[in-house]
Amino acid sequence: MKIIRANDYADMSRKAANIISAQVILSPDSVLGLATGSTPVGVYRQLIEWYKKGDIDFSKVRTVNLDEYCGISPTREQSYRYYMNHNFFNEVNIMPENTNLPNGLAADFDTECIRYDRLISDLGGIDLQLLGIGHNGHIGFNEPDQAYGKMTHRIELNQRTIEANARFFEDASRVPHYALTMGIKAIMQAKKILLVVFGEDKAEILYKAVNGPVTPSVPASIIQLHPDVTIVADNAALQKFTFD
Ligand code: F6R
Repeated sequence: MKIIRANDYADMSRKAANIISAQVILSPDSVLGLATGSTPVGVYRQLIEWYKKGDIDFSKVRTVNLDEYCGISPTREQSYRYYMNHNFFNEVNIMPENTNLPNGLAADFDTECIRYDRLISDLGGIDLQLLGIGHNGHIGFNEPDQAYGKMTHRIELNQRTIEANARFFEDASRVPHYALTMGIKAIMQAKKILLVVFGEDKAEILYKAVNGPVTPSVPASIIQLHPDVTIVADNAALQKFTFD
């Protein structure tokens, strides 16, 4: 595992974008696993800037996102499809048909989860998976104390996650209670993992995820067992770490 220290949010975003950019330059048809949330917004912004300068070409890139709420139309701004279109896809030359998220409006969620896993496998698997981490250690929507062996599945969000995500809705009562998420097993099958972490409020959970026991009570701790993980985090998020 490599831990890269960034001075601030802009630096974290630039460093992570550099890693994604290198991936796409080296393998233009890469399959990128993408995340939503506040943390990667700056990464996407940086990639858009480099695309506009002509430094990076997304025309052959395929993407699969980690998760999507159940029951929210992709046209609503709280949906992860809307987030991805507006924060990234619409601004670069990626083919819309090459961008994938679980369908939160599917009539049958079990069938949708099977379709999504098959899609990832038909694409040849994920070359680089971008992740954020929740305050409770969740990755994707894999909440604490879920089984590690899951592929894509429907999950009931816990209260802490609902409260954390309420900032994107009119109020907490509007946050959906279910989501579709790639499971821990699906995430661990990615060839490379890039975790971005920002801010003092993530310091404790980041420390536990990296230095604590590998346990389902801290879902992100599983990445200790992945052979190719890079963490890019700002000084505040790394304040519990000591470096030589
Ligand atoms: C988003 C996702 C979540 C977030 C996590 C951190 O697709 O899968 O696991 O990465 O909730 O969110 P932020 O970055 O908003 O703190």
